[in-house]
Amino acid sequence: MSGDLAHRTLVRMGQAFAFRPPPLGTFHSISANHHTINLSSYNPQWRLLRHNISTFLATTSSLSSDGIRQSLDMLVKKLNHQAANNSSIVVPSDHIKFALFQLFTYLCFGEMLDTELLKDLRKVQLGMLGLAVKLSVFNLSPKFLMLMFLPRLWKLLSFRKRQEELIVPIVMAHRKSCNENNNNSSHNSYLDSLLALKAKESGRRLTDEEIVNLCSEFINAATETTSTVLEWIMANLVKHQVIQEKLFNGTRQFTKKGDQYVEMENLKHIPYLKAVILEGLRRHPPAHFLLPHTLDNDIILDGCAIPKGAVVNCAVAEIGRDETVWKDPLSFMPERFLNGNDGMHMIVEEKIKMMPFGAGRRACPGEGVAMSVLEYFIANLVTRFHWKRVEGEKIDMTDRQSFQGLLSR
Ligand code: HEM
Repeated sequence: MSGDLAHRTLVRMGQAFAFRPPPLGTFHSISANHHTINLSSYNPQWRLLRHNISTFLATTSSLSSDGIRQSLDMLVKKLNHQAANNSSIVVPSDHIKFALFQLFTYLCFGEMLDTELLKDLRKVQLGMLGLAVKLSVFNLSPKFLMLMFLPRLWKLLSFRKRQEELIVPIVMAHRKSCNENNNNSSHNSYLDSLLALKAKESGRRLTDEEIVNLCSEFINAATETTSTVLEWIMANLVKHQVIQEKLFNGTRQFTKKGDQYVEMENLKHIPYLKAVILEGLRRHPPAHFLLPHTLDNDIILDGCAIPKGAVVNCAVAEIGRDETVWKDPLSFMPERFLNGNDGMHMIVEEKIKMMPFGAGRRACPGEGVAMSVLEYFIANLVTRFHWKRVEGEKIDMTDRQSFQGLLSR
């Protein structure tokens, strides 16, 4: 789907295309009857959950508190440790993913979880994600082949059990403290906002099973996407030393003597930082496609009939690399997002030029938080270290999960 068709369907006909197809069987078995935001179709349940997450993310003060600094400190410590023991060579991928996992569990639960608990939870979350993807084949196979998939299905269910064992005690502790405070406190965590939520018509509160799913969705949706973009941007900074130097010159003026941090409130004064992030999102969107959309009525679009229930998607990565829209689209050039250049407007003449967060009613509710987290981490990683290629090694920019860098600042 091209940028103008994406605009017509997701923005102009936004309501018609805001539905989701029913999840496949394996997701059904672990989704508490589709009770997550991304799996809910376009209905009152989705509106309630979507309004809740958007309000929480717009008002959370957790990002300006200690949480984000603690995650950065942990990352810096691990990088320093690895560099000291490995001739200044670091493989930052896993450290970056874990630091962001720690940060987003902090936003979710409002407390820094103990490292062992975090590791256990990370293993479960990743295990479930991986198996859900592998088992999607199972949903399309004839039923008699079911036996072949049973071991993986058991594994998925055992991960699910462990996930509940880890998250339910946290939910129960928060529920107790919410009850003691009469639900009056402002929400310090996503979990607290979920505990206070009541369905408008029935007045029903969420069950533990539903809360576990919503917390799991929050942590996965936030961690995997944000950390992937962060890795791509750091890889580009290793490759393009001039861009890294320019960024360093922009950020270092905001570090105080004796204190190496670029603080949250200063990030907005570094336009080049935002330009680097937007270019990272344009060139390497973590989701190459949207989550599947569908319609609940037949419609005619450009003379073509689209039946109710048809699965509709957009080629997010292709839209951001469209050479009829972007000059030299495969090059990494943050300057295009600075004043007067071609990246300044994301929608031109009803054509979407890039949509890493989607568009319209189902667009990602985490965009603002993701941008702030990326700005904070990149500004601080660039002021702390000089990122260089390992001598004699090429920088491999094909899609994969890790890259190597050399630290020396
Ligand atoms: C760089 C980071 C991120 C990127 C690129 C990204 C991208 C996306 C995309 C492409 C979608 C699908 C939109 C569609 O189907 O039309 C989506 C949905 C979603 N994202 Fe993100 N996301 C990011 C970070 C986050 C964060 C930080 C959170 C939460 C804290 C989050 C929560 C969600 C949720 C709940 C949905 C489902 C929305 C719905 O179905 O209504 N995402 N995201």
